[in-house]
Amino acid sequence: MASPSSSSSFICKTHFLIDLIAILIVSCTHSSQVEAIKAPIRPQDILPLLPRQVSWPLLNSLRGASDLLPSFVGAASISNHSDLQWKGSCFYQNTAWLELHNKSGSEFGGGTLHIKVSNAHSWTCMDIYVFATPYRVTWDYYFLSREHTLEFDEWGGKAEYEYVKRKGVAIFLMEAGMLGTLKALWEVFPLFTNTGWGESSNLAFLKKHMGANFEARPEPWVTNITVDDIHSGDFLAISKIRGRWGGFETLEKWVSGAYAGHSAWWNFELTEDDANPHIALLPLHPDLRSKFNETAAWEYAQSMIGLPYGYHNLIFSWIDTISDNYPPPLDAHLVASVMTVWNHLQPAYAANMWNEALNKRLGTQGLDLPEILVEVERRGSSFAELLAIPEQDEWVYADGKSTSCVAYVLEMYKEAGLFGDLASQIQVTEFTDAYMLNFFENDSSRLPKWCNEGDTVELPFCQIKGKYRMELPGYNSMDPYPHMTESCPSLPPDYSRPDYC
Ligand SMILES: *[C@@H]1O[C@H](CO)[C@@H](O)[C@H](O)[C@H]1NC(C)=O
Ligand SMILES: *[C@@H]1O[C@H](CO)[C@@H](O)[C@H](O)[C@H]1NC(C)=O
Ligand SMILES: *[C@@H]1O[C@H](CO)[C@@H](O)[C@H](O)[C@H]1NC(C)=O
Ligand SMILES: *[C@@H]1O[C@H](CO)[C@@H](O)[C@H](O)[C@H]1NC(C)=O
Ligand SMILES: *[C@@H]1O[C@H](CO)[C@@H](O)[C@H](O)[C@H]1NC(C)=O
Repeated sequence: MASPSSSSSFICKTHFLIDLIAILIVSCTHSSQVEAIKAPIRPQDILPLLPRQVSWPLLNSLRGASDLLPSFVGAASISNHSDLQWKGSCFYQNTAWLELHNKSGSEFGGGTLHIKVSNAHSWTCMDIYVFATPYRVTWDYYFLSREHTLEFDEWGGKAEYEYVKRKGVAIFLMEAGMLGTLKALWEVFPLFTNTGWGESSNLAFLKKHMGANFEARPEPWVTNITVDDIHSGDFLAISKIRGRWGGFETLEKWVSGAYAGHSAWWNFELTEDDANPHIALLPLHPDLRSKFNETAAWEYAQSMIGLPYGYHNLIFSWIDTISDNYPPPLDAHLVASVMTVWNHLQPAYAANMWNEALNKRLGTQGLDLPEILVEVERRGSSFAELLAIPEQDEWVYADGKSTSCVAYVLEMYKEAGLFGDLASQIQVTEFTDAYMLNFFENDSSRLPKWCNEGDTVELPFCQIKGKYRMELPGYNSMDPYPHMTESCPSLPPDYSRPDYC
């Protein structure tokens, strides 16, 4: 699965904003002449200049939810200069085309997107665009009639190069009031580059927003484990720090407050994964190990072979409450925006990525995203409320049952009998992590002898790979209870959760 957003370079634009304010002042003091040429200032034109806390509620009051979605204007392609033309909300005449070049001298070269905007309806308006390929998202805003360019120094690889050659770069028009939101979001994007810089921005981001420590451990950073000490039901927790997956998992950690991202394959992680993976073994408690029904666990595992990764419902595991799960500047509108962009970029693969899950929540069939928003409003509800409806483990999608990695492991625990009589009252898709359950070894003398080998600090679980000491807050601390985690808030930095949410 690819993540919906990825790397890009930030074009510093603050001085433009100052220019814009200056122009505004000039145009206000000469308003009689200005009005003769252009339309008077419209309230929504000034929204981008207001602080986000002010502009966002205003924008929400001016527009319906479905109007706030980015609108797809087309793709700037290499085939035909000036082929793509559209009308913006500020500039009425716009064209764009893409030129490939090899200024970087890299294997696949880069490109320049030319965008020509003209016929502004007022002096103060601006258009904000999001430019996207399946491998990166960037944005820019324009308030001067002329030709602008956007540089892509280097395509991310063969796949992106082939994609832009065939399909070009997709362009989305945003509501002008989104400016503050986009700027705030930008802090997130360096997370997705696969470099040391990407790694340090991931660490800095997690430190700042989650208060995670990331203490370096002494070498060796890989432990020689013996397979004899690993038993059915043990849990491998993995956390990645660098690259596209690293960035995606950082986001997933941030929005959900779960410090471990995945469960994965050892050989790949040791030899091929360049995301600087951190891995820990969480041995099952002996009492539970004796209860663990291997036959039932295998039956479940085999029933899932060949089924797709749980992207239908991945996001629903962290959205439990109407507003307490979105760290600013994320909110339900932005989730809808990302879904919209993604639907345009990967229609064949993503058309039903979330729509089917949203339809299930509404009890409808086949509505697309704008229709879902309209239907939600018609019922007097909101998209945020819709997202907060818990996923049901027995929901079957067009391509089968859908589980993410943690849900998969927990469902296996459920089938294997570890939840006991509570099984029918637990929806595993609602969990963003498994390590908080008190299912694991709590007697450190029984941990395998290679556990935390070489480290000076004794962790309650076995870290077997990684440069930094893994943190699993609340590890092994919670008894399962009916409807566990179905309505938990998860706001950074402390992710405090009420009892029995
Ligand atoms: C370019 O545009 C012309 C006229 O609009 C069209 O006939 C031609 O097929 C286009 N070429 C490509 C490669 O899309
Ligand atoms: C770009 O230039 C480099 C070095 O000259 C070359 O190896 C590479 O094939 C070029 N890439 C493209 C897409 O032309
Ligand atoms: C792990 O095993 C390899 C090969 O057997 C050995 O060279 C290495 O020293 C071992 N590392 C540790 C930390 O024991
Ligand atoms: C384990 O699961 C299998 C398959 O569901 C079942 O037939 C068997 O009775 C279970 N064993 C125990 C001890 O519960
Ligand atoms: C470990 O867990 C068992 C069963 O949950 C409990 O009875 C025991 O007191 C715990 N031991 C420690 C050292 O916490």
